[in-house]
Amino acid sequence: MMHLILADSEIELVPQAIQGHPAVVKHAKIRKKKPSQMLLDASYHHQAIRSKYPAEAERRGRPDIAHFVLLNAQESILNHEGLLKVYLHTRNNDVIKIAPETRLPKAYHRFVGLIEHVFQNKYVPDKEKPLLVLEKMSLQAVAKECGGKIIVLSEKGRKINLREYEIPRDVTFIVGGFSSGDFLSNIDFADDIISMYHETLMAWVTVYELIAEYERRYLEEVK
Ligand SMILES: C[S@@+](CC[C@H](N)C(=O)[O-])C[C@H]1O[C@@H](n2cnc3c(N)ncnc32)[C@H](O)[C@@H]1O
Repeated sequence: MMHLILADSEIELVPQAIQGHPAVVKHAKIRKKKPSQMLLDASYHHQAIRSKYPAEAERRGRPDIAHFVLLNAQESILNHEGLLKVYLHTRNNDVIKIAPETRLPKAYHRFVGLIEHVFQNKYVPDKEKPLLVLEKMSLQAVAKECGGKIIVLSEKGRKINLREYEIPRDVTFIVGGFSSGDFLSNIDFADDIISMYHETLMAWVTVYELIAEYERRYLEEVK
């Protein structure tokens, strides 16, 4: 089984410190929601983010990254064949566990609505047969729960050629769900930290390279 953790994803509800900012209030009115119930989204709240968190203004409020990654992963052949399990870990140690049969909305605004619903209710669609479950967990805790060899993907990692790299059947890959900067979480617990290319890749490209390589190694056995 391949476990995939999208780590330190820039997904959070609008922090209290900027809930009264005019850009946030305006957006909340349009969406007919309370600011506290909305996901922080740099496309709409960039001024508000910059006013309170200037040092992190280029990375916070990016649910779009998780949307791309999760669509890619959930719709992959590997997932259709039952060999993939995906976890969305956020900057605040919220972890959303995603059942393999989950088909996520293709439209971004519907994806945002769904994640907001998870933050409010912890389970989607319900506790009896949940597709999405929210738990408080550190990156290390969720990685240990996944098990297998734990491999972090980072542009600062040890340079490897993915085609020749040893990938055991039970593996947990950790990919950053942010656009710039570094992991916020401790990643020292990983068995290996690797770089697969000499330039920075988008998270969804990194994820698809990993899925494609794992498919190449292990899919034939189940077909
Ligand atoms: C856009 S990058 C984040 C930028 C950040 N400077 C970094 O690479 O840590 C998103 C994620 O894609 C993965 N990634 C990006 N470039 C990579 C590379 N050359 N090799 C391996 N993973 C990479 C990492 O997991 C990274 O956290």
